[in-house]
Amino acid sequence: TYVVTENCINCKMQDCVEVCPVDCFYEGKNFLVINPDECIDCGVCEPECPVEAILPDTEPDVEKWVEINTKYSLEWPNITRKGAQPPDAEEWNGKPGKAALLDP
Ligand code: SF4
Ligand code: F3S
Repeated sequence: TYVVTENCINCKMQDCVEVCPVDCFYEGKNFLVINPDECIDCGVCEPECPVEAILPDTEPDVEKWVEINTKYSLEWPNITRKGAQPPDAEEWNGKPGKAALLDP
């Protein structure tokens, strides 16, 4: 499966949602997640993310994000169309410590 990881937080660009063939993205206030059980591993969303927040679960240290994506994909609404980006999205790209800012 692919999952959304830390660098999406407060960037939330949403380019990823438009390309998913199975519509398995879910939207939180400042972060998106993938439902790992619905993801068919096609990989097309990975290069669409401008901040490289989408990773396959075969990458190191992604286990924690698989858990987070699983949990919130069951709680948050589905998203299939790109909405407005946060006005300061670019400023948050690459900022350290964003995991603590995830707003459920
Ligand atoms: Fe959707 Fe494919 Fe990305 Fe999985 S890898 S979330 S199926 S676009
Ligand atoms: Fe987040 Fe990248 Fe999608 S910033 S909303 S994973 S395009």
